[in-house]
Amino acid sequence: MYQKRPGVFMADWWDADGRRHRKQFSTSSGAREHEHRETALAHAERASREMKLAARSSGSGKRAKAVEDTGTIDAAKGKLGVMIPGMGAVATTFVAGVEAIRKGLAKPIGSLTQMGTVRLGKRTDGRSPKVKEFVPLAGLDDLVFTGWDIFEDNMYEAASKAGVLDQRLLDQLKPFLSSVAPRPAVFDHNYVKKIDGPNVKKGKSKMELAEQLRDDIREFKKSSGATRLITMWCGSTESYIEPTEAHQSLKAFEKALRENDEMIAPSMIYAYASLMEGVPFANGAPNLTVDLPVMLELSRKNEAPICGKDFKTGQTLMKTVLAPAFKARLLGLSGWYSTNILGNRDGEVLDDPGSFKTKEESKLGVLEHILQPGLYPELYGNMFHKVRINYYPPRGDNKEGWDNIDIFGWLGYPMQIKVDFLCRDSILAAPIVLDLVLFLDLAQRCSDLRGLGIQEWLSFYFKSPMTVPGLYPEHDLFIQLMKLKNTLRHLKGEELITHLGLEYYD
Ligand SMILES: NC(=O)c1ccc[n+]([C@@H]2O[C@H](COP(=O)([O-])OP(=O)(O)OC[C@H]3O[C@@H](n4cnc5c(N)ncnc54)[C@H](O)[C@@H]3O)[C@@H](O)[C@H]2O)c1
Repeated sequence: MYQKRPGVFMADWWDADGRRHRKQFSTSSGAREHEHRETALAHAERASREMKLAARSSGSGKRAKAVEDTGTIDAAKGKLGVMIPGMGAVATTFVAGVEAIRKGLAKPIGSLTQMGTVRLGKRTDGRSPKVKEFVPLAGLDDLVFTGWDIFEDNMYEAASKAGVLDQRLLDQLKPFLSSVAPRPAVFDHNYVKKIDGPNVKKGKSKMELAEQLRDDIREFKKSSGATRLITMWCGSTESYIEPTEAHQSLKAFEKALRENDEMIAPSMIYAYASLMEGVPFANGAPNLTVDLPVMLELSRKNEAPICGKDFKTGQTLMKTVLAPAFKARLLGLSGWYSTNILGNRDGEVLDDPGSFKTKEESKLGVLEHILQPGLYPELYGNMFHKVRINYYPPRGDNKEGWDNIDIFGWLGYPMQIKVDFLCRDSILAAPIVLDLVLFLDLAQRCSDLRGLGIQEWLSFYFKSPMTVPGLYPEHDLFIQLMKLKNTLRHLKGEELITHLGLEYYD
């Protein structure tokens, strides 16, 4: 829903076949209500189709028969090019980690694609292949990398400055890491106020900058010999903005690019360039970036999947584990105070109120969605939720996140829980980046997924998961994991796991 001009509100929705519709209303509530109703109808229709397909696939009890029903998956042939806007702590920890694992120097701990398994069939069947053996993912040896940054440091220099990984490990990887140098970035200081750098593209308009990024993408594909590409935003958190009319359609967005509309952030220009080139895009920061109607339109049109936003790593990971436990046991919550100290460049960027507001919005949504105060007013109708991030240089990338949680139980008796997570931000983020790269590439090779736009099954990895307009996101980590694994089962024509289990007692 958006406001076209005073007193004119537009409802925007997609039907079950992926066609976009738009209708005019005189009130915002009318437009929003209409949009929600139509979106829910489209979902119901799509879900009923999926159930019919699933019924056909599980009816005979034979596995793999449903592969025709569930579409096709192209093989992962050739190299997969990973393009990263923002070659800072997360990006370098990811790339150095992949190279260390390829050389046998370390293990891919924390990565579902590398270490996780999927149970198939009944608990008594004893079939639990590794994820990477169950679905055809690109191998680590097939990954090739490039990136953009406003600083000129190559990956070795940037990783050394980030100070996340041991210098002895980085020195062992030096020739490889030094070979990945940043391309000049598309940057706007107004969107990231705390930093500035020399390695920046120049152009008369934002459209011209987008064209330069598209040239980079084509050049990288050619020079690296990659058969497929993925863009993974690991750039700084941009200042908070809300969608405007410029973000509502491809036509409006391109006009805004030509006219240098200030509401187009650099991350959106990378996303536009990637999707125009048919390259999937994942957003690791809380910026709007691809969470916009124009990007959904482009993603569906060019069959380039999108997902985001904001990697779910430390404090929010804990929140999405603990909050579902409170709700499961119907324990009340009166307050949750979260604070962090963080000393890396990300912490410095988040010290700016505009960038912090973007992060705050992303972190705050979680509890409301998990606890559903509308359904449980006595338990969650009155909770106080506060999130702070404090820049504290001595800690570097080693963030400390404290949570004070005030809960109440039987007869309203209060209790407290304290969590003190001494984590390493980029160590938690790197395996998420790897999984997203491999799964987004998989999505583009699956006939069932590539035209959907948003890949909601990847919500598992995000603080603020994207959904189609009108659909609330799933934040509960374990629901998200079930959704992800069931999607993999579905793609391979395996029975979905419901955990009903009555058949064991027949
Ligand atoms: N656990 C985590 O580390 C974590 C969790 C969730 C989200 N994030 C987000 O991931 C992003 C990266 O985190 P980080 O710790 O690596 O930060 P970082 O500051 O170390 O790296 C970000 C890099 O992006 C570059 N940059 C900024 N604007 C750019 C642009 N327009 N084009 C190209 N490069 C640009 C900066 O120069 C910097 O090198 C941040 O937005 C952060 O909020 C990180």
